[in-house]
Amino acid sequence: MNSKRILYILVLLCLVSCVFQETPEADESETAVAAFRDSVDAPPAGWNGPVFELSHDYPQEKPDCEAPWLNRNVDFQDPNPKWEDWAPYVQDIIEYILEGQDPNLPDETGWLNSVNGETRWYHVPWMAYDGERGREFAHGLTNELSTALPAFRDGGRGSGKHIFEADLETQDNPPLYETWSVGMYNPCGAWSLGQAFPASGMPDTYAENGRNFARGMPFQEGTVVIKLLNTTADETAVPYLKGSTNWQTNGHIQLSATEYDKCERELRSVHLVQVDIAVVDSRSPTRWVYSTLAYDGNLPGENVLDRLTPLGVQFGNDRGTFPAVPESDSQPLHETVLAPIDIPEHYGCQNRLAGVVDQPNSSCVSCHMGAFAAVPPELNKQGENVPAIFNFDGICTEYNEANADYFMDYQYPDSYPSGDFDEAIPLDSSLQLAVAFTQYANFVNPDAPAPACPNADSE
Ligand code: HEC
Repeated sequence: MNSKRILYILVLLCLVSCVFQETPEADESETAVAAFRDSVDAPPAGWNGPVFELSHDYPQEKPDCEAPWLNRNVDFQDPNPKWEDWAPYVQDIIEYILEGQDPNLPDETGWLNSVNGETRWYHVPWMAYDGERGREFAHGLTNELSTALPAFRDGGRGSGKHIFEADLETQDNPPLYETWSVGMYNPCGAWSLGQAFPASGMPDTYAENGRNFARGMPFQEGTVVIKLLNTTADETAVPYLKGSTNWQTNGHIQLSATEYDKCERELRSVHLVQVDIAVVDSRSPTRWVYSTLAYDGNLPGENVLDRLTPLGVQFGNDRGTFPAVPESDSQPLHETVLAPIDIPEHYGCQNRLAGVVDQPNSSCVSCHMGAFAAVPPELNKQGENVPAIFNFDGICTEYNEANADYFMDYQYPDSYPSGDFDEAIPLDSSLQLAVAFTQYANFVNPDAPAPACPNADSE
């Protein structure tokens, strides 16, 4: 081969590789595999415990969903609402979500996706891609912020990612417990999931009047979303967890009482501590009503599901209450309505609704209203091209512009109130869809930062 010819081949090779590097679209079938993977990890050889399967046969026709709570005569404007006004509304939802489940949620069967012979519950794609927090194989649980012991006992100092730093002043160094969760949509909500993420695994988005949108948004009335939150804390640490579930989960290896490995996993037991609920109700100022059920092992109920008790409801951010306004102008809450309970609870910012393993400086609605995505394949960067859902300076401690925006009431298709993210795609409060967009962008974008732990497809 003469040197001219070698040069020619080299130039050709370079051209080919350059062209391939500049094409962000990955192979279609590879994308679908990554999107609809069941879990990031695989069961060990000889495993005969539960194995999670992603429920993603989303309805293609818009279903009608029974939603008796929508006929309840509740008042979203009442300046002085009482729990008794809301209790029947929440009870209707509880009956719907618990229908057809084994009342003790045993490890072998976990949460059943099928109710009365039909698929009742569907999962969000792309949550089994990230090696750090992605779905584990036994129950499809994903890793969330961990919770320190005082938050369970008296609402004290709270949460950490994989480590809880000792308080330098008090030398206080309580143990930290991991939270592992799984979220699900009923058929009405799942129709929207399937529009936003069709079988290709690629998000289906479009532009209209200068804004960007995802197909299938907003979620329709009749949509019900739940999330089961489980903790590695047991009843010896947190007495009111007695008699809760015992699910095997492939959690992170525990390095000490206050630290977990962020990548390496090991099987351990987790216990149901909280069941989150969100429903669409067009009467709400945000289109949504959030509620959460706490597990209280001291209740007389005969089984796990009987010992769940509502903490309250939240349908707005109470924009007239500190820190959305200065403390001197602060009005009492009326868009959070709390229920009487017998367990220690820290709630969220200024007693807006949040559960025991949630962030005490946020709340269900304020965190969820930040569900936006960058236009694919752009990477999602909180505070840059999508709103920060928490962890901004002064969150809940001072009246400032960031808090005024964060605790504002608005609804789909409004863009984020600060006006800084008008290009971002509104996801109608679904933070799991926001995770799906984020992971898809990481998967397809050659500029994605190196992951903290190997992604599912790179092993
Ligand atoms: C500090 C932020 C934050 C707070 C507070 C919060 N959540 Fe979420 N929530 C998330 C994130 C992030 C996800 C998606 C990731 C996941 O499910 O692991 C999520 C997922 C969910 C889901 C699954 C569907 C979806 O919208 O993504 C439901 C239902 C839910 N949360 C309900 C609640 C309820 C009820 C409360 C209050 C009791 C609450 N959340 C408080 C951040 C928050």
